[in-house]
Amino acid sequence: MTSNQVRKILRIDSSSSYSHSVTRRLGDEVIRRLGLANQGVDVVCRDLSNSIGFISESWVQSNLTSPVERTRAQEEVLADSDRLVHELVTADVVLITAPVYNFSIPAALKAWIDMICRARLTFHYTENGPEGLLKDRPVYLVLASGGVTFGSSADFASGYLRHILGFIGIRDVRLIYAEGTNANASASENAAHEMLEQWLPVETSTAVA
Ligand SMILES: Cc1cc2nc3c(=O)[nH]c(=O)nc-3n(C[C@H](O)[C@H](O)[C@H](O)COP(=O)(O)O)c2cc1C
Repeated sequence: MTSNQVRKILRIDSSSSYSHSVTRRLGDEVIRRLGLANQGVDVVCRDLSNSIGFISESWVQSNLTSPVERTRAQEEVLADSDRLVHELVTADVVLITAPVYNFSIPAALKAWIDMICRARLTFHYTENGPEGLLKDRPVYLVLASGGVTFGSSADFASGYLRHILGFIGIRDVRLIYAEGTNANASASENAAHEMLEQWLPVETSTAVA
């Protein structure tokens, strides 16, 4: 993707922390560098902490109902989910930031995933099984853990996120992580900055997505 094709970045944050959040801080740097690369780009921020609902029985029924047969009430039940899907579908680049909570992702991020995995909209069923409907695009995935090593058998976050993004058609996942922040916060964040530099080098960031 050339820089002038990046018009919209969708930023998803999920940490319950704000002022001291490692993932939000790293996310800020990803946005800063993407902004250098793509002047005038629109950044849509979706902060999931305290702002996302769960799917309900009526949500499931509405989603199972064919779009042409939905009642007005069913359309309203799906309205938030429709909006989240639209934000994702129309983003040229996505940033997802997430701390590890209890060996997995924050519940708020899982709630967002439940909202955007929509048969007919983001995936569909074929003779060969489910198939993603989203065109591929870069997803910067910023993770942090207090102690868990990413890629280890105790990491139920990074593999799951890769899987679910692949499920809807997104495979260009660019992982940046700070692991072991409990033991040495600055060392783990420095390591994350090195990964960030690999994906978005400052000196050439005017030419990459
Ligand atoms: C509720 C909660 C649960 C956590 N569970 C884990 C865990 O299972 N494994 C782990 O390595 N770190 C765990 N941590 C530590 C965070 O992943 C770590 O502090 C991370 O750097 C937080 O990122 P943030 O500053 O962006 O919120 C947990 C933190 C909280 C608040």
